Amino acid sequence: MENKMIFLNHKMNLNAKEIKDYLNSFPYHNNVVICPSTIYIPYFLRKDSKIGIQNIAADNSGSFTGEVSAMQAKSLGVSYAIIGHSERRANYLETDDIVNQKVLKALENHINVVLCIGEEKRKAGFEKIIKNQIKKALINVSNFEHIYIAYEPVWAIGTGLTPTNEQIKKTVSLIKETVKKEFEFVNIKVLYGGSVNDNNIEALNQIDNLDGYLIGGASLDIEKVKKIIKVVL
Ligand code: 13P
Repeated sequence: MENKMIFLNHKMNLNAKEIKDYLNSFPYHNNVVICPSTIYIPYFLRKDSKIGIQNIAADNSGSFTGEVSAMQAKSLGVSYAIIGHSERRANYLETDDIVNQKVLKALENHINVVLCIGEEKRKAGFEKIIKNQIKKALINVSNFEHIYIAYEPVWAIGTGLTPTNEQIKKTVSLIKETVKKEFEFVNIKVLYGGSVNDNNIEALNQIDNLDGYLIGGASLDIEKVKKIIKVVL
């Protein structure tokens, strides 16, 4: 397995002073992708940085007040886009169809995709939700090597709860099998996200079929980030 990747999703956090403090001690690393609030992206532009945007528009340009496109992000130096995060699905009514359009737009602009999927509740039949999200988000996609699928159970995001290692491992296998069966692509890269922190990373990192992590809350604290990097990379 290639080296794991750590994606840091700041969501809508930190003010101008806080981001500058953060920046001052940020541990740039080839396998760490920083996804700050969009307005702070230029602060992280360096030759050795990897930057992700937390959302992109489904179009390249035009009259879409407040939106930022994959074309624009790419032209600035952004190389990853988080697409279909559950917070966007829930709060901004992003459907599987919109998620698919955004995935295609990112790939068309040579931006790597972090496609978020995950069940709202872990109950019988949740596998069907996972499979459907994958099938719908990846319609007409051909370059799977530029995609990470982030398994983020909604109930684990920001709650301090995580599935067991065995549950994560099984779901990651299901995701890899689904992509293989539906799109004939073997071994799609899969991340886990949902309450990953400096205390549970050592245990989570025992899971042997994961390609990395997508981290929210803990990514805001540089000391926690450094500890996580130390364990994973
Ligand atoms: P937390 O790490 O805060 O649970 O957030 C996970 C997440 O949503 C990352 O995209």
